[in-house]
This record gives sequence, structure tokens and C-alpha cells, in this order.
Amino acid sequence: MDPVKLFKMLASIKLPWQPTRSKIGWPRRGQIFLWIIFTSLLLFFCVTLTFNGHVWQMLDSNMHLSEYDDANEGYGLRKLLEDPEARLRQEGLEKRLPQCIIIGVRKCGTRALLEFLNLHPNIKTAGMEMHYFNKDENYDNGYEWYRKYMPFSTSKDITIEKTPRYFISESAPERIFKFNSSIKLIVIFRHPTTRVISDYSQVYENKLERNKSVEPFEKIVIDKRTGRVNTGYKAVRISMYYYHLTQWLLYFRRHQIHIVNGDNLIVNALEEIKKVETFLGLDHAITEENVYFNETRGFYCMKSGNDQHCLGAQKGRKHPDIDPKVIRKLNNFYHPYNRKLFAMIGQEFDWD
Ligand code: A3P
Repeated sequence: MDPVKLFKMLASIKLPWQPTRSKIGWPRRGQIFLWIIFTSLLLFFCVTLTFNGHVWQMLDSNMHLSEYDDANEGYGLRKLLEDPEARLRQEGLEKRLPQCIIIGVRKCGTRALLEFLNLHPNIKTAGMEMHYFNKDENYDNGYEWYRKYMPFSTSKDITIEKTPRYFISESAPERIFKFNSSIKLIVIFRHPTTRVISDYSQVYENKLERNKSVEPFEKIVIDKRTGRVNTGYKAVRISMYYYHLTQWLLYFRRHQIHIVNGDNLIVNALEEIKKVETFLGLDHAITEENVYFNETRGFYCMKSGNDQHCLGAQKGRKHPDIDPKVIRKLNNFYHPYNRKLFAMIGQEFDWD
């Protein structure tokens, strides 16, 4: 039906208190009519919000996403204004400090791993990289500050935070040990040369977006004076996993650190996820139902009920073509570090 006609029809309905021979024309009556509808709707929503648990739950679930499906008691807006976390606490939901931290390594699949783990009903993940243990200005705020950024969880859940920068931070190992000496740590490694290329690709793309010039990979990675791998390039140093992990093993026992194979995570996500579930002492709740291979993206993506999502375009970029001689040079450079790493962790990767 034509909306203009509908409006005119509704507006022409005589209001009960109007005199039979009204001097008020239809536009005026229409306004009054709409005001009545608007006020009634407003009143209805106020009452529902205040007293009806279901409406409350609907709004609430937008704030703290699916934390409490079976809450049907009549909580209301008033309660929220008094103490927004009161109801969550009644249901055993609190912001807890992390019992597990993904400490790195940058560009090895840390975001994908975190998103996959988030599909587990007993894993709650912090939305952002906290940089709490590596940045003095954050660390100086204390644990309570850190806790406020954690997601709501029950006592059965495991809270996970990930900040890949921790892996190469000088202060993070000791600070995390002081924070919780029995904490579980997860490190994800990927072929060291591929990781450098991935790191370069990210910086390259960011610079291009800001119209800045970028030197070719080969020029940055190889020191032109010596012809050797340029260890002054940070991306090269980050892939020297042995060196960094040594700092962590000064504080933590080997069994506290789970190592994920980032190359395998790309092609066999579920296999790596199951190992993490075991490490965390959780059921294998993430199944084939929760992951699917997206041909267009070329990666596994996440599925939960009707919701399907893949990581954004900044994950899984196309890497530039690199001179094979430079790749060989990098592989040779990393070889001894890799051997030492494998011996130290008692685990080997197919990186040769
Ligand atoms: P590339 O962009 O070089 O391909 P991080 O999250 O630690 O920055 O790691 C990014 C890398 O995660 C990506 O590097 C990509 O290869 C890898 N990755 C692993 N599993 C992925 C997935 N399911 N979706 C997107 N990227 C994934």
C-alpha cells in the first residue's frame, strides 16, 4: 500500500476526545496521532527494559556477547545503572587475569590461532594485544589495570591473552614469571625465512599505503658491503627463534611452553588446535563443525552456528617474488639456529 495514503488514512481517524465537528485539519490530527503512537512505543520500551528479563538479556548479550544464555530473571536497566557488572558476578562471570598467554611469534599465525581457540566454549580471549609485560607505561598501571581489559569468564574457563611482541621483549619473561610462575605459554613458529618475508610484506604494504618508498626485500636483507645476511634488520633477528626462546627457558620449564607449528596451522588447522586443547587440559570441543577451508582466501576460517568468518585481508597477504639466491642465503643463515632450537625444545620442524 502507498505509504502516503496509509498515513492520510491513519491521520483521518477521529480521536476519541475530538469534537464531532473538529476545526483541526488532517495534518494537525496526523501529528497528534503520530505523537500518541510514539509516546506509547516509548512507554512500552521503558517498561519492558526495566522489568523484562528477555529484553534485558537481548541488550546485554550485545555488550558481553553470549555470556549467559540461560538467565531469565527479571533484571533491568535500573540494575545496570547501579552496577553494570553486578548481574555478571551473580552468574559467576568475572574478568580474570590470563592463565595462558600467546607470547609470539609475530607473523607466524598468532591471530588465526587465537580466533580458532576462541571457538572453544571454555576459552575466553582478550580482544586486543595488551603489551602489558613489555611496555613500562602499561606494566606500571598494575595487574588490576590489566585485568580490566580481560573478557568475562567463569571459573571453568581459561582466559588467553596474546601479544606477539612479548617473545622478543627483554622484560616480559621475568615479569610474566613474577605474575604467575605456573602460567601456560604458547609460542607459534613458522619457517624462519617465510616469517621474514611475511614481516617485510606487512611493512611494505603499510608504507605503500602512506605513499612511502620501500626498498626491495633483497636489498634490505642482504648487507651489500659483506654480501651476508643483514642481522641489523629486525625482521631477520626475530626469526632467530633459538636466541629468544632461550630467554624464556631461563624462567619457565619446558612443559609450560606449548609450541605450535604455524606452517601446519595453515594446512591442517584442526590438528594444531587439538594439541593446544590438550595442553590446556580442555575437551576437544573445536571440531570439523567449527572450521572450514575457504577456497577464495586459501585459508581455514571459523564457523560457529550460522556465523562464519575469515581473518581480514591483512592476514594472508600475497608475498612478493624473492630472488631464490637470497632465499637460499637466508635458509643457510637460519640453519644452525634451527638445529639448536630443535635440540632445545625436543621437537623438529621441516624447515630445510
Ligand atoms: P601472511 O600474511 O604472510 O600470509 P600473525 O597473525 O601472527 O600476524 O600471522 C599472520 C599469518 O598468519 C599470515 O601471514 C598467514 O599466513 C598466517 N595464517 C595462518 N592461518 C591463517 C588463517 N586461517 N587465516 C589467515 N592467515 C593465517
